[in-house]
Amino acid sequence: MEFDLSRLVPEMYAKGIQERNEFNFVAEENGKIVGVATGAILRGSDKEGGLVLLRGICVHPSLQRRGIGRALLNRVVEYSKEQKCHKITLYTLPVLIPALNLYLKLGFVPEAYLQKEWWGVDFIKMSKWL
Ligand SMILES: CC(C)(COP(=O)(O)OP(=O)(O)OC[C@H]1O[C@@H](n2cnc3c(N)ncnc32)[C@H](O)[C@@H]1OP(=O)(O)O)[C@@H](O)C(=O)NCCC(=O)NCCS
Repeated sequence: MEFDLSRLVPEMYAKGIQERNEFNFVAEENGKIVGVATGAILRGSDKEGGLVLLRGICVHPSLQRRGIGRALLNRVVEYSKEQKCHKITLYTLPVLIPALNLYLKLGFVPEAYLQKEWWGVDFIKMSKWL
């Protein structure tokens, strides 16, 4: 994601939360951020329901497999229900086995297999209906 680094600044996150229904949950350990889950709620002006797009989830490599990813994703599911959304969706890669397992464990199902979707690689769209 290096091409994105220049725009990943606090002001961008603040603006996203205020103006674009974005959310960013973090996991903290000893005052340091060790994991994040980010996304946005997409909904029309009628405010009925809402589609949650989970844009990213990651845990610091040295702290993986300790339940942090599961806790972050559970928080996203809980938040989506609080916000009366009807569905959470995300795009992942077939090679990201830990992520695929995590999504399946929390009730996400593969909805579409997208061949050579971006950067010439295959993606999987996974969703959970609330
Ligand atoms: C995916 C990711 C966020 C999971 O975070 P984590 O804190 O390690 O996950 P957890 O410890 O909460 O594990 C939850 C479940 O995920 C699956 N999982 C996690 N790591 C795994 C691994 N190395 N191999 C296989 N399954 C794995 C398991 O099903 C696990 O449940 P279990 O421990 O009961 O078997 C983490 O591996 C990560 O940051 N990966 C790199 C970034 C990435 O791929 N993000 C997703 C982009 S779409």
